[in-house]
Amino acid sequence: MEERQLDLQTALVRQTQSAITGLPAEATAGIMTSRAAAKAYFSDGTNRAMFRFTLINHLCTDLEALKDTSRVPDRVRQDVSRSPGGDSRIYLNSCVGCHAGMDPLAQSFAYYNYQYSDNIDTGQLQYSANAVQAKYLINANNFIHGFITPDDSWRNYWREGKNASLGWSNALPGTGKGAKSMGEELANSTAFASCQVKKVFENVCLRKPQDAADRSQIDAMTQNFSANGYALKDVFADAVTIAWEIEMYKRLLTTVLLLAAWLVAAGKPSAQLKPRHHRRWIIRRSTTPVRPPAQMTYSSLSWRYGTIFPAKIAVVPVTCRAANHRILPVMMTSIRLMLLLIHW
Ligand code: HEC
Repeated sequence: MEERQLDLQTALVRQTQSAITGLPAEATAGIMTSRAAAKAYFSDGTNRAMFRFTLINHLCTDLEALKDTSRVPDRVRQDVSRSPGGDSRIYLNSCVGCHAGMDPLAQSFAYYNYQYSDNIDTGQLQYSANAVQAKYLINANNFIHGFITPDDSWRNYWREGKNASLGWSNALPGTGKGAKSMGEELANSTAFASCQVKKVFENVCLRKPQDAADRSQIDAMTQNFSANGYALKDVFADAVTIAWEIEMYKRLLTTVLLLAAWLVAAGKPSAQLKPRHHRRWIIRRSTTPVRPPAQMTYSSLSWRYGTIFPAKIAVVPVTCRAANHRILPVMMTSIRLMLLLIHW
């Protein structure tokens, strides 16, 4: 499409997934049942990969972060050994953490497989309505009393426990049949919305969200995103304003810091300055030139603030006072002029 320079607005025609893939309408589940995703995550294995990479790609998290060993392990499949290496503690303290929650969710993919013979590129997504794929029943001898998948019913055990923090929707039951409803379960979580927002933030701001301010912006944008019917376009608009605002705050802060630095630098006794550096002419409103006392130092700020500002001097010849200043003379001059302007 890029090579042919097609206008996407006219070249892209909206179609249903079932019309293109031949999947029954009830078996389509968006990106998860696309050919590319199937080739990547339904090929070989046990279809748990599809679940894991959906978490990574669309909820910005991975199983390691979700491990919860306090969930009921009644739906962990037979292929998961209950005493890996002869040690059942490993099963209870590690394996259960992922498999207790993941297996009953990945059960929603029980009728899918990516079928290919020699060349994976020529394979295709297969959907076996009402027949559990063989890959769900392999290695049954690892633990014969484990869960035997009868159909594609799924249940979200992670609605309770620590993973309740993913923000599941109260409008959904947390259980269902097939990938479509399981996909809805994931897509209606706060974690999904904030993941999309984070991606947009990084896209626009060219960095990851870092501090508390960033995170609260992400939260606000996430709320807008859910409230506005998940229109990603609006998230971009949201991010641009925020990025711009943050930039403005940054500049303001830099200015304040520079001012502070200047004040500190200006407060330094100018013992090392040559006397001629002290000579400066201030024109008052009365136009009478005022000559600072010869002993005046940089620390005579009171003199400057007391005299210059109340008098509203129109012209202040602020030539660079000292080459040994740490701040560039040009910057000094502009800051001083700014100070004057602010005070005007
Ligand atoms: C951090 C989460 C996590 C933990 C902990 C975990 N697993 Fe898994 N397990 C997975 C995922 C994800 C897959 C799917 C991997 C894939 O197909 O890419 C998987 C797949 C498996 C499979 C199927 C492998 C296959 O494709 O044939 C078995 C068996 C298994 N795990 C057993 C265990 C055992 C035993 C333990 C404890 C020692 C354990 N798992 C701990 C996440 C986990």
